[in-house]
Amino acid sequence: MRHFLTLLDLTPTELHHLINRAIELKQLLVKGDRPPLFQHQVMGMVFEKSSTRTRVSFETAMAQGGGHAIFLSPRDTQFGRGEPLEDSARVVSSMVDIIMIRTFGHEKLVEFARASQVPVINALTDEYHPCQLLADMQTYVEHRGSIKGKTVTWVGDGNNMCHSYINAARQFDFHLNVACPKGYEPDAAIVEANKDRVSIFYTCEEAVQNSNLVVTDVWASMGQEEEQKAREVAFKDFQVSRALLDQAADDVLFMHCLPAHRGEEISEDLLEDPRSVVWAEAENRLHAQKALIELLLRESKSNR
Ligand code: CP
Ligand code: NVA
Repeated sequence: MRHFLTLLDLTPTELHHLINRAIELKQLLVKGDRPPLFQHQVMGMVFEKSSTRTRVSFETAMAQGGGHAIFLSPRDTQFGRGEPLEDSARVVSSMVDIIMIRTFGHEKLVEFARASQVPVINALTDEYHPCQLLADMQTYVEHRGSIKGKTVTWVGDGNNMCHSYINAARQFDFHLNVACPKGYEPDAAIVEANKDRVSIFYTCEEAVQNSNLVVTDVWASMGQEEEQKAREVAFKDFQVSRALLDQAADDVLFMHCLPAHRGEEISEDLLEDPRSVVWAEAENRLHAQKALIELLLRESKSNR
């Protein structure tokens, strides 16, 4: 069974085809063409953390393709009442065609996928957010062409998004600079496994030199709310502003997975800067995930 738990679950060739297909599906939608990609197919969507973009993009993708999505929250399902994850995975996957999960520990997702009879998609864990990277890579290609050989700078926390950027550096063949405060580096094992592609810096100004893409994210992720105050102090020199982008390459783009906190990780005016492509990036969640669902459903049928 093919799952999508990290970007490493697809080959670089599959990822490139997926991005091209996402661009094609987007163009079809603009023309009013909604091919019945998922007719009579059902997606189970398990959300143990909040979401706007991920929920709307997956539900819309299934509906536009002629399928259906079921929103499962721990508040009103047995997911929140201690039923073993493996039991839930066996039951839900015996009925639906594909499952996406947003949860805390990545190992919970891996355990769920192991017990599932259908493809499982990582819709964010504490460690990775690979669906966002599909949209980000699509957005880069649409604006600038191939990202191969480019320099990307991650500013901020060495978090789930940063880890997925490290995986993307390997799969899409670019170099990643990470600018973070001491003590907030990405996971050492993930950096070590990709050390030829990742450089760690402790100031943003050094990191962004010659960068073709600058990316950031919130200082405190979901589940770290009680660290907010301490993080505001630790990250105060890690804000992306127009002045910081001025120090990057002339063709630099700016991305942020959103939600954004103006005045914290970005300056008040950054999203209005012409170099910011965050709204296209958010919309591309829909198109990239359609291409992902299509690939995983096709693979799961050929395995049956
Ligand atoms: N970027 C992202 O995953 O947004 P949501 O938390 O709103 O789904
Ligand atoms: N790093 C953020 C991403 C939100 C889409 C979080 O995990 O909360």
